[in-house]
Amino acid sequence: MNVLHRRLCRSAGWAERMHQQVLPWALEDVDLGGDVLEIGPGYGVTTRWLVERAGSLTAAEVDRRLAKDLGAEMGHRVEVRAADGAALPFADASFDTVVCFTVLHHVPSPDHQDRLFAEAARVLRPGGTFAGSDSRRSLRFRLLHVGDTMVVVDPRTLPDRLHGAGFGDATTDAGERSFRFRARR
Ligand SMILES: C[S@@+](CC[C@H](N)C(=O)[O-])C[C@H]1O[C@@H](n2cnc3c(N)ncnc32)[C@H](O)[C@@H]1O
Repeated sequence: MNVLHRRLCRSAGWAERMHQQVLPWALEDVDLGGDVLEIGPGYGVTTRWLVERAGSLTAAEVDRRLAKDLGAEMGHRVEVRAADGAALPFADASFDTVVCFTVLHHVPSPDHQDRLFAEAARVLRPGGTFAGSDSRRSLRFRLLHVGDTMVVVDPRTLPDRLHGAGFGDATTDAGERSFRFRARR
């Protein structure tokens, strides 16, 4: 992430938007009471909301430094692993729910994104849910990503990609700045 992006992702405004709007919308009716895996927790804005609601929470963050800092902050409440969501260090069928927010467009290619989807499917128990949200393309979004990875996912093609990764039902809904997705293992 570039400097501007890092600052935004740690800001009070970002936390308020995620906690008040995006997370309640993206996880509407999603059961968080079992074993939950978050892919891409970053600075922990989404993790701090999830930890109050999840039965148990594990997080996989590809940036080693961020993973270390978040692990130190969360202590025994969250198991934070330094790992790529496309190569998860967990056994098959380990989780009831896998979530990821504002991560997909940071994954550097569609192929890498598809491997992340396949890994989410692999580590979910049958009947489990993969849910989350990501940003839609806009001028503001492009400016924020100057010099940064930005492989925007098209919510219209995402259901087919999720089916290809091993999910059954898969849906997306587009909001003004974001879209949410939901898929069943
Ligand atoms: C914009 S931050 C979002 C953080 C948090 N989920 C939020 O919404 O505030 C994206 C995070 O995803 C992480 N990330 C990107 N690709 C990843 C991958 N393949 N596996 C795990 N984490 C990844 C980045 O390192 C970064 O910390």
